[in-house]
Amino acid sequence: MQASCPVTIVGKRSGRRKKNVMSDTSPPSASADGATGGWSGRFSEPVTERVKRFTASVAFDRRLADADIAGSLAHARMLAAAGILSAQDASDIERGLATISAEIAAGSFEWSVDLEDVHLNIERRLTALVGDAGKRLHTGRSRNDQVATDLRLWLRGAIDAIATHLTALRRALIDLAERHADTVMPGFTHLQVAQPVTLGHHLLAYEAMFARDAERLADCRRRVNRLPLGSAALAGTSFPIDRARVASELGFEALCGNSLDAVSDRDFAIEFAAAAALLMVHQSRFCEELVLWSSPRFGFVELADRFCTGSSIMPQKKNPDVPELVRGKSGRVIGHLMALLVLMKAQPLAYNKDNQEDKEPLFDTVDTLVDTLAIMADLVATGIGVNVQRMRAAASEGFATATDLADYLVRRGAPFRDAHEAVARAVRHAEAHGVDLAQLPVVELRQFSPLVGDDVHQMLTLEGSVASRDHPGGTAPAQVRAAAAEARRALPAA
Ligand code: ARG
Repeated sequence: MQASCPVTIVGKRSGRRKKNVMSDTSPPSASADGATGGWSGRFSEPVTERVKRFTASVAFDRRLADADIAGSLAHARMLAAAGILSAQDASDIERGLATISAEIAAGSFEWSVDLEDVHLNIERRLTALVGDAGKRLHTGRSRNDQVATDLRLWLRGAIDAIATHLTALRRALIDLAERHADTVMPGFTHLQVAQPVTLGHHLLAYEAMFARDAERLADCRRRVNRLPLGSAALAGTSFPIDRARVASELGFEALCGNSLDAVSDRDFAIEFAAAAALLMVHQSRFCEELVLWSSPRFGFVELADRFCTGSSIMPQKKNPDVPELVRGKSGRVIGHLMALLVLMKAQPLAYNKDNQEDKEPLFDTVDTLVDTLAIMADLVATGIGVNVQRMRAAASEGFATATDLADYLVRRGAPFRDAHEAVARAVRHAEAHGVDLAQLPVVELRQFSPLVGDDVHQMLTLEGSVASRDHPGGTAPAQVRAAAAEARRALPAA
C-alpha cells in the first residue's frame, strides 16, 4: 500500500508531510488553515490547488443546501432539548441558518471551493455569523451521517416531484386512450401485423407500465425516507442524542438501524436509479413507436410542429426530435444506474470518499426524469394527431383477422390445430390472389373447411374482431373504456 502511495509521510509522529512527489505546477494553497474547515490542526501544510479541486464537491453538492439547513436545524433543536447545547446557542444557530437560507435564496451566498463541500461552506458561514454557537453545531454529528441525511431528504423531495409529473403523463395517456377506445389499428408481434387492436388498448399498455413505475417509486421512497443522522462518523456518538425526535421533525418514517450501514449505505440511491431507468425504458419504448408511427411509411400519427424540428439541408423533413431524444436520454439514465452500482461494489465499510461520486449521477437522473416526464405529458396531452383512417387501413392488411377465422372454426367443432392449418391454407390462397380473407366469398372459404358457414364474414371484420375480445384485459372497446375509467380512479389525487 505505502509503496504505491504518491505522498511520502516523513517525520515520526509529527504528521509532517513531504511535498507530493507527483509534479504539480500549481502553487500550494495560500490559505493559512489548510484550506479546509474542519481538520486544520492535524496538518502542517495545505493541500495543493489540484488536490483541492479534485476533492471538492461544492460545485455540485450545493444543491443540497436546503436539505443541509433543515437537517442542521433539527439536529440543533434536538441537542438543545437533550441539554447538550444551551438554549442560547440553539437560538443563535437558528438565526444564523435563517440568514444563510436567505442569502442562498438571494444568490448572495459566497460559495468557496476552499471549503470543499456544501456542509463546510454553510458551517463556516454560520460561525462567521454567530460565533461559537456555530462551532458547536457539529457536536455529536459527522459529515458522514450529515451527507447521507441530506441526500435522502433531497431525494425524497425529488421523488415527490417526479411522481407529480408521472401522474400528469398518465392522465394524458388515459384521456387519449379513452378518445380512441374504438379506433382500430394493427397490433404487432415481431413488428408484423398480428391481430387488430384498438389504439386505446395499445395506449393503456403504456399506462400499465407507468402505473408500475409509480408503485416502484412509492416503494423506493419508503426506504429513502429513513434517518441516518445520529450514526455520526460510523460508530454512533457518546452524546445522549434523541434520534426519534430528529426523525419526526424531518418527516422520516424510521431510523436507519446499524450506524456503520447508515453512513455507508447508498442502496436507496441505487433503487431509485433502477426505478428511474425502468421508467425511462418505458418512455423510450413509447417514443420508439411514435417515431415509427410518425414516419410517412406508417403515417399513423402526426406530431405537432412544436415538438419537431426541420433539417438544415432537406427542406421536406420534419423530424420527431422530442421522442428521439427521450429514447436517447434513456441511455444516460441507465448509465447512471451502472455508475452507482459500480461505485458501491467494492467498498469496505464504512464511509469512503468514493461516495461523494454518488451525487452527480443522482442529480442528473432526477433532472433528466423531470424534464422528460414534463415534455412527454405535454406531447401526449396536446401534440399527437391520430390518423384513424391510416391505422384502420393498416389493420385490414396482413390478414389480421386470421385468428378470428380459426377461432370461428373451433367454435363450430374443429380442433384448434386443424383450424389453424385450414386458415393458413386460406391465407396462402388469398395472398396468391392479392385479396384479404374477408374478400373471399363463402364458397371459396369453404374449400378450406366444410365448417365455414354463411355468417363467416361477421368474424372477419375488424370491428367484429376487436369487439369479440370482451373480457378484462381484452381489446374490446367496452373493455378499454372500463380499463381507462379504472386507471383514472387509481391515479393519485392531484
Ligand atoms: N462531501 C462529502 C460527500 O459528499 C461529505 C462527507 C465527507 N466525509 C468525510 N469524512 N470526508 O460524501
